[in-house]
Amino acid sequence: MAQQHLELLMAGLPDSEAKHLDLRFRELGIADQEACSVVETRAFMNPEHRCTPEKFKYRLTNCSAISYGLFIVLNPDHKGRLSKLDPGMLEKLTNQEDSASQKLALVAHAVSTLGTSPVVTDEDMAFPKNWRDAQPNGVGHKAHGRTVCLHSLAILPEFQGLGLGPLLMNTYLGFLNEARIADRAALLCEERLVPFYEKLGFKFLGPSSAQFGGGGWYDMVHDFKDTVDAKATPS
Ligand SMILES: CC(C)(COP(=O)(O)OP(=O)(O)OC[C@H]1O[C@@H](n2cnc3c(N)ncnc32)[C@H](O)[C@@H]1OP(=O)(O)O)[C@@H](O)C(=O)NCCC(=O)NCCS
Repeated sequence: MAQQHLELLMAGLPDSEAKHLDLRFRELGIADQEACSVVETRAFMNPEHRCTPEKFKYRLTNCSAISYGLFIVLNPDHKGRLSKLDPGMLEKLTNQEDSASQKLALVAHAVSTLGTSPVVTDEDMAFPKNWRDAQPNGVGHKAHGRTVCLHSLAILPEFQGLGLGPLLMNTYLGFLNEARIADRAALLCEERLVPFYEKLGFKFLGPSSAQFGGGGWYDMVHDFKDTVDAKATPS
C-alpha cells in the first residue's frame, strides 16, 4: 500500500530527474538505523538538531509503523548521484534489500513518534534513557497518542534540490491519512522552512515553547481531514 502511494504521486510528476529515479517507499525498522544515522548526519549541519544513533534505535524499535524511508534501487552499472559518495558511506546506506533481492540505498527518511499534545513538545522530542529495560517514564513515544510528531525529515545532500522532500512528505502524509493512525501530523521547524511546510498543507501556529537543541522553533500542524471527517460522520 505504501509503495502505491509513491507510484501514484510519481506518475503525476512533470518530466524531471526525480521522475526517472527507481524509488521505493517502505517502513523503516531497527535494521535501518545505521543508514538513517548517515542520512541524518549528512543532512543536518547543526549537531544539536540531529537525532542521535541511540534515539534512532529507540524510535525505529518502537515507532516503525510511522517511520518511512525513500530508497533508490542500486544499479551496479549506473550509480548516478550515489557515485558522489565515498564507498564506505554508500555501503552503510545500501545495507538493504527489497523482496526482489535488489539492493536499496536509503536517500531520505521521515522518522516520527506518537504524542498526546496537538503540537510537538520537548517531552515528545526526548526518549527514556533506560528504554530497553524499564517501563516508559513519560517522555518519548506515546502509543495511544493521536499526533504524529515528525522529528526527522532528511534528504541526503546529493539528492536535495530534486523535489524528493515534497515527494516523500506527500507520500508519507497520504499514507498516514489513509492508514488513520492519527488525527494530525505536527513538527517543529526553523523560520526559513515555514513556506516549505505550508505548501505541504501544514498550518503555521507561531513560535513553539519547545527548547530542544537551543529553541527558536515554530509549530506546524497538518490535520488529517479525512480522519476528522470520518469521525464526525454519524454511524
Ligand atoms: C529541507 C529539505 C527536506 C527539502 O527537501 P528537498 O528535496 O531538498 O526540497 P527541494 O529542493 O525539492 O525544494 C522544495 C522547496 O523547499 C525549498 N527549500 C529547500 N531547502 C530549503 C532550505 N534549506 N531553506 C528554505 N527553503 C528550502 C525550496 O526552495 C523549494 O521551494 P519551492 O517549492 O518554492 O521551489 C532538504 O533539503 C533537507 O533534508 N534538508 C536538511 C535537513 C532539514 O533541514 N530537514 C527539515 C527539518 S524541519
